[in-house]
Amino acid sequence: MAEEPSKQAAEPPAVANLSLAETANAGIVGDKTKAVEQHIDPWSVSAAVDEQGNTLSFDYEAISKKWSTSLIDQALLDRFERLTGHKPHRWLRRGLFFSHREFNLILDRYEKGQPFFLYTGRGPSSGSMHIGHTIPFAFTKWLQDVFDVPLVIMLTDDEKFLFKENITVEDAKKFADENAMDIISMGFDQKKTFIYSDFRYIGGHFYENSVEFSKLLPFNQVRGAFGFDNSTNTGRIDFPSKQCAAAFATSYPHIWGDDPDGNRQKKTAAIPCLIPCAIDQDPYFRLLRDNSHRMKNPSPKAALIHSKFLTALQGPGGKMSASDPTSAIFMSDSKKDVQKKINKFAFSGGRATMEEHRQFGGNPDVDVPFQYLTYFLDDDAEIERLRTAYKSGEMLTGEMKQYCIKVMQDYVEDFQTKRKQVTPQILKEYMTPRRLQWGGNPNPVKPAAPIQAQSGKKSSKSKTSSTPATPAAQSESQSEAASQPASLPSGGNLPAVIAASTNAPVTSETTMAELVQRLDLDSVGSLAAQPVLPVLASAQPNHSLAAAQDGGTK
Ligand code: TYM
Repeated sequence: MAEEPSKQAAEPPAVANLSLAETANAGIVGDKTKAVEQHIDPWSVSAAVDEQGNTLSFDYEAISKKWSTSLIDQALLDRFERLTGHKPHRWLRRGLFFSHREFNLILDRYEKGQPFFLYTGRGPSSGSMHIGHTIPFAFTKWLQDVFDVPLVIMLTDDEKFLFKENITVEDAKKFADENAMDIISMGFDQKKTFIYSDFRYIGGHFYENSVEFSKLLPFNQVRGAFGFDNSTNTGRIDFPSKQCAAAFATSYPHIWGDDPDGNRQKKTAAIPCLIPCAIDQDPYFRLLRDNSHRMKNPSPKAALIHSKFLTALQGPGGKMSASDPTSAIFMSDSKKDVQKKINKFAFSGGRATMEEHRQFGGNPDVDVPFQYLTYFLDDDAEIERLRTAYKSGEMLTGEMKQYCIKVMQDYVEDFQTKRKQVTPQILKEYMTPRRLQWGGNPNPVKPAAPIQAQSGKKSSKSKTSSTPATPAAQSESQSEAASQPASLPSGGNLPAVIAASTNAPVTSETTMAELVQRLDLDSVGSLAAQPVLPVLASAQPNHSLAAAQDGGTK
């Protein structure tokens, strides 16, 4: 059943219209932050500091408000569960993925069985990823399982070369391969996943998109989003057009089996993507959303789903750094490393002495071991038990740390076991451009049958993706679906809905009484108990019916 599409997020002002002081490098002003404001951009993140010099937690609501993203609310999660039949991931339930841009439109497409793809990435700045990096990948893997759609993973080795002084091209390529092996260990389905290094893949249609997009992107927009200045190297200035072009379906013709005349295809350009990432990557995608409709083959605005940062070991407000081993647990750490790092560096919300802790209790909101458990322990009731026990003073800091050490050691160990199985041959398979195979929604809402004026023929039934299609057939049927309009029947009119539900031809002579007479009670019966609005939304705009009403001359 089609549901009423949720309200769209308010768009932020076009980046070009913001002054430098209003954008990324200006920091995010929350009510509580006076001394130093919090600051977020894709390369550095720091929390606010109050007048007493205390580091504050990130104010994510302030970030969302400032950048005009939508907070994820219960209604959206309920709709997700109704449509997919999956309980929302614990990171959604716990607000760790907290914000989005038009995720509701992706749900609309899923509901109708229309194609979309997932896009995420990693800037390979070191040989091993840290646990923070695994968050968007673990979440994307879960989304891939739920939606059963293609996924592209961009490894921005070029970005890391351009933005890190001490990384050579060769280093970045090597890190890209090593990180790709880390990413594969997260369990992505090879048939649906394409991983690429920018240095090795960008060319062809991707490069055409990137160059076309860069022509649409004035320097003041890039500077507004990232705070570049006159001494910024021009490689950095041009890089955002690449991270943006990666969101265009036409950048991957092989996925869709689509390159009939060697050129990018309009139908493919109409396939949107959903980008899971932490909120720091959002400035890139504001540029994308501001300009993607201006491409020769316009693309819909990419949708995003944003996470908070898994805090650095040192406590609230820190972003883990790949270049600071004490800031994070790395996926290559030994059991002993994990234990040592948590015992030695993990910021505690406990009291100075055991007596005080027993008397006044600890603060789980800033306690890093507890925070990590909220990410990696699935059991909601157990999380609540730990929170309460710590707050009341019943559970001590050392006990919370021991609990966290065990959970994190298991997480890293499980990862390392899988990582050992990733051979160079497997790496090659994921990184080879090829057609992908996916199923999509196995049970999409049946689009209402179009009414054919004066044809007297029954219209053909919609295709569903319950039988996995060959990639070619799949991309054809999905591109077809992509071009279907998704709005209400004109004026939300009753004849259109009845006609659609009876699958009956309508001519210029058809009267309303005749239409009602023809009602097939079986097919209408299935609609009887449903609220009216979703039924209206599932019916297509009925231009042929309108034509019939106009005298059927069109
Ligand atoms: P990078 O390598 O900085 O980060 C990779 C992904 O991890 C997220 N992330 C975190 N998430 C939670 N907690 C943390 N502590 C944490 N630290 C990093 C990042 O938001 C990102 O999602 N330019 C990008 C690569 C990229 C990309 C993309 C990322 C290219 N296209 C599309 C996301 C989506 C980068 O350097 O990410």
